Amino acid sequence: MLIKHVRARDPLSSEITPRAVFEGRRRLLKAAAAAGVWAFAPAGAKAAKPVRGEPIPNLAPWPKSLSEPPTGYELATTYNNFYEFGFDKEDPARHSKSFKPRPWTVAVEGHAEKTGTFDFEDLIKPHQLEERVYRFRCVEAWSMVVPWVGVPLGDVLKRLVPTAKAKYVAFQTVLRPEEMPGQRLPLLKWPYVEGLRLDEAMHPLALLTVGMYGERLPNQNGAPLRLVLPWKYGFKSIKSIVRIAFTETEPPTTWNIATPREYGFYSNVNPQVDHPRWSQAKERRLGDPFFSPKRPTLMFNGYAEDVAHLYAGMDLAKLY
Ligand code: MTE
Repeated sequence: MLIKHVRARDPLSSEITPRAVFEGRRRLLKAAAAAGVWAFAPAGAKAAKPVRGEPIPNLAPWPKSLSEPPTGYELATTYNNFYEFGFDKEDPARHSKSFKPRPWTVAVEGHAEKTGTFDFEDLIKPHQLEERVYRFRCVEAWSMVVPWVGVPLGDVLKRLVPTAKAKYVAFQTVLRPEEMPGQRLPLLKWPYVEGLRLDEAMHPLALLTVGMYGERLPNQNGAPLRLVLPWKYGFKSIKSIVRIAFTETEPPTTWNIATPREYGFYSNVNPQVDHPRWSQAKERRLGDPFFSPKRPTLMFNGYAEDVAHLYAGMDLAKLY
């Protein structure tokens, strides 16, 4: 039998893009330009200096925050993945300026006692906002350290009283092609959707996030409401959420729909399981000097002590 070995290598910065989209990139760029989807900045142009957000008062510090210095604000807000605003890292900061994160409601559906439409502030309000410094690891093998602001997702979900039938939680991003130029292109199947097993969603590390660096989230980072799941690859941290549904069966997820062989439902950070096109053993910390060595990636992104029990007995090479 002939076995083809693909040598593990570094991912290109654009490689989370599904292969079909990446290969058709030139065609998409042309189509976008012809349709006037967005005006292209000249090659190499930097995104405008970020405008700082509204400060959030009365933040409780989280005792388990990392003591590592956070990634610079400018880097964390201009090197983004948010395909609704384009596929280059600077596109979200460039093309999200007219996105309106207020007013904002979230539809709660499915197997829970309290369903309906909620103003997002009402979902968050009864809980104490915390600042939590987490490691954040992207599937493209770069990482950051970010002081996020939010409340434990589980606290909010518990208040919605899931019923015995609820086994998973599905999340959906807003669909607004008029404000999100990337949604006018077939980059991904829109709207962006994600999902978690209910016990993962209830885990105290799962953060329903409204801010970063002590301020409200900028549009490019998922305003006004996103997930942050520090033990999973960054793409599970869905942005600009408008729907939360308690389901009995495993919900579909955007990257799994796009490229199932490359992106599974769980997507836990795991240095022992390579992506089919590159190694996941090391990562480049954004902001590190260019020639500094890559850092080893930690199992569950360094949160194994907290979350490994969720996956006891599972074959993580198959359930990636
Ligand atoms: N959510 C939506 N709706 N659309 C996206 O394209 N990208 C994901 C995730 N959430 C994405 C998304 C990916 S691939 C990553 S790595 C993180 O957002 C990036 O978050 P950041 O830009 O705040 O660093």
